[in-house]
Amino acid sequence: MPLACNNTKVKIATIIGARPQFIKAAPVSRAISKQNLESNGAQIEDIVIHTGQHYDHNMSQVFFEQLMIHPPKYNLEVGSGAHGEMTGIMLGRIEEVLLKEKPEFVLVYGDTNSTLAGALAAAKLFIPVAHVEAGLRSFNRRMPEEVNRVLTDHLSDLLFCPTETSVRNLANEGIIEGVFQTGDVMYDAFRFHKEQALKSSPILSQLNLRPKEYSLATVHRQESTDEHEALSNIFNALEKIAAKDCPLIIPLHPRTKKVLEQSHSKQRKNPWMYLISPVGYLDMIALESQAKVILTDSGGIQKEAYFAQIPCVTLRDETEWLETLEDGWNHLGGRDSSTILQAYQAALRSNRGDQSKPYGDGSASHLILQHMLVASDRINNRLQPSLEEVKR
Ligand code: UD1
Ligand code: UDP
Repeated sequence: MPLACNNTKVKIATIIGARPQFIKAAPVSRAISKQNLESNGAQIEDIVIHTGQHYDHNMSQVFFEQLMIHPPKYNLEVGSGAHGEMTGIMLGRIEEVLLKEKPEFVLVYGDTNSTLAGALAAAKLFIPVAHVEAGLRSFNRRMPEEVNRVLTDHLSDLLFCPTETSVRNLANEGIIEGVFQTGDVMYDAFRFHKEQALKSSPILSQLNLRPKEYSLATVHRQESTDEHEALSNIFNALEKIAAKDCPLIIPLHPRTKKVLEQSHSKQRKNPWMYLISPVGYLDMIALESQAKVILTDSGGIQKEAYFAQIPCVTLRDETEWLETLEDGWNHLGGRDSSTILQAYQAALRSNRGDQSKPYGDGSASHLILQHMLVASDRINNRLQPSLEEVKR
């Protein structure tokens, strides 16, 4: 139900920059458009600031074209670089825009350098920060994402948690105010686009694949790509998995492509391993939903495997998405060839139980927006409906 706000305008600055953030922002963008439409007048102004962390067409623009995300008003064109350098440049450029736009909220997603830079720039200007996908923890501080998440959560005023576990993680760090368990926006996106993807994506026929007769893999995390031994172990295992009766499709992240090229190991011996360019979201959902097994070090893809009810092997030693491990839907394969192959066999064999819907019911983006509107009204002393009133 739309929330009446005395015809006043709420200005949100959405800060995104990397592939998964475009996908996470899409359902919230849609919820904002719907709210504006239903409430007879533009109540919410969503200023999208793209940091430019990802910039290739198939890492950025393709998602704006497919997912109806509000187009960026600003592209800060930060590009690639070392962590500190990239985050520092973003911080300065975001600050400049925030000083000009003066939004009531800054909305950030996930755990990338763009997330931290957005949250920090806003907090320094006393602009309330809303963090979508708050409370996730791997408890591994060697991951750049873990540093980004912990700091962003401690800077945030509104913390939108996808799961019960994430609420608990925040409580364990003393964060209890402004915390809302909303469900996962990636589940909203997946539910919204799955049917369209299955109907319209040409990717299976383009690659000459049949449902359940191929597997899908992605590798891009710093800890997988930047340690030569780990990358070589992962690719040795993948090479053993790819077979004539079950080819392995690998949409290759540019980071991994670059490392493989530098180590001269991009040419693989197994012709049933197809290294392809990153694909758009609809093609990815189509590939995921019809795969036999998914192997990945991606956070988002582990969950999408779970949403699509496809067995998954996580190419890491730990996961933030503990719920996917329950009932044998996801298996931790680590970064050794032998453990990955064992996990792959387990994924092929295991009997999987019913899923308990730990990621919500597909209404996370709607709830996030309503919580922000209620908070905005409180801040501005306008109407004060409680969220319970809004839900009724
Ligand atoms: C970033 C996030 C990671 C997220 C991932 C999603 C951080 C610290 N990491 O990792 O959490 O899972 O995005 O994909 O923010 N490159 C291109 N073209 C592009 C983008 C990147 O060629 O459009 C190459 C560049 O060589 C760059 C490298 O990929 O140096 C890594 O990019 P970067 O944005 O630093 O990190 P990701 O690995 O993409
Ligand atoms: N994705 C995509 N095309 C690809 C690979 C991934 O559209 O070639 C989507 C995928 O479906 C998921 C998101 O990108 O929604 C995951 O992003 P990524 O793996 O880059 O980052 P992570 O989730 O690990 O942060």
